[in-house]
Amino acid sequence: MIVLGVETSCDETAVAIVEDGKKILADVVYSQIDIHKLYGGVVPEIASRKHIAKIISVFDEAFKQAGKTASDIDLVAVTTHPGLIGSLLVGINAAYAFSLANSIPCIGVDHIYGHIYANYVEADFKFPTLALVVSGGHTELVLMRDHYDFSVLGETMDDAVGEAYDKVARVMGLPYPGGVMVDNLACEYKREPLYHLPIYDSDDYNFSFSGVKSAVLNLLNKCHMKGEDVNFHALSYAFQDTVTNVLVKKTVKAALEYNVKQVIVAGGVAANKGLRARLSDAIRKLDSVELVFPKFRYCTDNAVMIAVAGYFQKLTSDKQQS
Ligand code: KG4
Ligand code: ZN
Repeated sequence: MIVLGVETSCDETAVAIVEDGKKILADVVYSQIDIHKLYGGVVPEIASRKHIAKIISVFDEAFKQAGKTASDIDLVAVTTHPGLIGSLLVGINAAYAFSLANSIPCIGVDHIYGHIYANYVEADFKFPTLALVVSGGHTELVLMRDHYDFSVLGETMDDAVGEAYDKVARVMGLPYPGGVMVDNLACEYKREPLYHLPIYDSDDYNFSFSGVKSAVLNLLNKCHMKGEDVNFHALSYAFQDTVTNVLVKKTVKAALEYNVKQVIVAGGVAANKGLRARLSDAIRKLDSVELVFPKFRYCTDNAVMIAVAGYFQKLTSDKQQS
């Protein structure tokens, strides 16, 4: 089955063509980051306008890359939610128009399921598998007992982890999106910890990151008022250490409780070097649990993950109907 994936939920205009959920025939992403950087975050109105300007050429480029034509496509999969409504509409309209014009079925895909299926490019799923979703808009622990069978064990009660990273970066004066820069500063810090930050911790699988984010803000304000210098490397290290600690602890607890065979990590923060190192150490200690991270390219928004998720969504619904 050859699936055409379309993703425009935020600030990436992306189209991909993937065969049988694994073989990537085309992968085109046009990123608007440089434009939104000027405003310190994504401006929804600009994002949807840019999607409109780019979507046709991104479609064309994908078909050129794959060496395929419309008649080769068996299914169109497009992100329908969650995301910026104006941005989503551009991808949905383009995908649906393409599907109508060529009489190809079109299905809507949940963006978060897409992030989860970015892992399938790396490794087959071994059920039960536990997904740690750490994106710009979501933080969840999701148990999967089969393909397209998702049970949310816990989620953030306030900020998503990526959102907290970006806000911390912003108050430190780093450009958008700052998550990766906080990660880089944290990894460069090799001395004794200078700062200690509080974080919400609990026995369940829910998360909260607004407290630790506010603690960074308060620390910066206090230092500013006292005229003290802040060591941004040490502060990034403290933030990353505190956040990854909780993420890893809850992931390990859930992996043990649900006897999972595999842990997969999804969303933009799956690119975080500190989280990768820490989670790798912790999962290595568990007996026969495989850890999978998507390639860096597939951690942030792309259409390959939507095509793969769409493929499994279709297989699962066909199975249920037969
Ligand atoms: O998953 P994603 O595309 O967003 C949503 O779908 O919501 O990921 C974007 C988020 C941004 O918040 C970005 O700062 C964060 O992922 N991010 C990182 C890193 N790379 C991307 N956060 C921490 N460390 C990184 N290396
Ligand atoms: Zn995303």
